Amino acid sequence: MGKIAKTNELLARRHYAVTTGVGQAHPLFAERAENAEIWDVEGRRYIDFSSGIGVVNTGHLHPKVKAAVAVQLEKFSHTCVHVMMYESYIEVCERLNALVPGDTEKRSLLLNSGSEAIENAIKVARKYTGRTGVIAFSGGFHGRTLLALSLTGRVVPYKAGYGPFAPEVYHAPFPNPRNGLSVDAAIAGLEQLFKSDIECERVAAFLIEPVQGEGGFLPAPPEFLQRLRTIADENGIVLIADEVQCGFGRSGKMFACEHAGIEPDLIVLAKGLAGGFPLSALVGKAEMMNAAPPSSLGGTYGGNPLACAAALAVFEVMEEEKIPQKAAKIGAHMMMRLNEMAETCPAIGDVRGLGSLVAIELFDDAEHTLPSMAKAMALVECARTQGLILLSCGVNGNVIRFLPPLTIEQAVLDEGLDCLALCLQQIK
Ligand SMILES: Cc1ncc(COP(=O)(O)O)c(C=O)c1O
Repeated sequence: MGKIAKTNELLARRHYAVTTGVGQAHPLFAERAENAEIWDVEGRRYIDFSSGIGVVNTGHLHPKVKAAVAVQLEKFSHTCVHVMMYESYIEVCERLNALVPGDTEKRSLLLNSGSEAIENAIKVARKYTGRTGVIAFSGGFHGRTLLALSLTGRVVPYKAGYGPFAPEVYHAPFPNPRNGLSVDAAIAGLEQLFKSDIECERVAAFLIEPVQGEGGFLPAPPEFLQRLRTIADENGIVLIADEVQCGFGRSGKMFACEHAGIEPDLIVLAKGLAGGFPLSALVGKAEMMNAAPPSSLGGTYGGNPLACAAALAVFEVMEEEKIPQKAAKIGAHMMMRLNEMAETCPAIGDVRGLGSLVAIELFDDAEHTLPSMAKAMALVECARTQGLILLSCGVNGNVIRFLPPLTIEQAVLDEGLDCLALCLQQIK
C-alpha cells in the first residue's frame, strides 16, 4: 500500500471508529517524533510549533526522559499509590513543593490530567473553607470533565449542549486592556458579582489562568493578579492558579504567576510536567491540602510510576538546560521575527507574548476590528502543506499561538518562522 493511501485509510478508519467529539487540528497521523520535528505515516517531516498543545516543552522524546522511563519500565509499571507507594511519587511532590512560589509549607497531589487536577483544586478549596462558590473568568479554559467544563468560560465548542453544569460556579470578566477591558473594569465586574450573584462569604475560590491559553494567549495584567490576591486574602477566599498551559517554564519563568510576584494558595500543573506522559499535579499550602481526609483525594492511576520517572527527568532537564531562560530567549526571537512579518502583513493586528507564550491575532480589515477565523484557518492549512504544524486559539478563533518545544534548535526555529512568513504573504 502506498504511503498516501495509508493516511486516507486511517482517515476512513477514524471516521468509522472514533467519535466525532474528538477534534483534530490536522488530518495527519504521526509515525515518529524527535525534539521539534514529527514525521507522519507518509514519511513527511513537520516542524512542530504545537508541542502537542504545550506538553513536550523539553522536546519529543528527550533522551533523558526516554532513558528514565525505560529504566522504570524494567522495574514496575503500576502498584496504585493507594495500595503501595513508591519513592518517585514522593520525590516529584518534594520537587514541586520546593519549586512553586512562596515560603509557605506545601503539599502535593499527583493525578492524570489537567481537568482532574482542576477538579481536585476545587474539592480542596471547598473542604478547607467550608464554602461552595467558585469564581472563574470569562474566556478561560479549565478542561472538559463536568466540573472543569462548568468552570470553563467558553460556550462553543466546549459547553454548548452539555449542561446542566455544576452549581455554584460563576464567571467574572477577564481583563483585556487590548479590547478595552481595563483592570479596574474587571475588578468592578467581580465586585458586581458579589452584589448580584453570590456574597463573598460564600466564595471558596477564585480560579484563574495567569495567561489564558485556549482563550488566546492573553496574560492577566500583573496588577489584576495582585488585586485578586488582596481580595482573596481580605475575604478568606482560596486563590487557585491554573498553570496547566502557561506553567513549567513556558512563560520565561518557572510559573507564570511569578511575573506578578504573587503566591497562589493552590497551583494546578499538567502538560509540561512529564514530557508527554500523563501526569498532573495540585500543589498548595499544607494547611489547605491537609484539610482533605485520607482516601478523599487520588485515583487508581494518579502519579503513575512511568510518568513520575519522566517528570523527575524533566526537572533535571529544566535545570541543566535552563529551560525557562531558553523560553525567554526563544520568545524574544519569535516576537522580533513576528513584528517584522507584521510590517508587511496587514492582517496581523497584534503580536504578543510572555516568554514563549507567543501569539498573533488576524483580522479581515485594516482597522483590526473584524477578527478573521478564516485567515487563521487558511494560515494553519498553508503552513501544514509547507511542513509546519500550527495551532489556532482565542474566543474568535483568529489567534495563532506558537508553542515550539523549548529545546528547539535555532535553525529549526528559523526554518519554521521562514515558512510562516511565506504563508502570511499568501493569506494577507
Ligand atoms: C489552562 C488549562 N487548564 C486545564 C486544561 C485541561 O487539561 P487536560 O486536557 O489535561 O484535562 C487545559 C488543557 O488544555 C488547559 O490549557
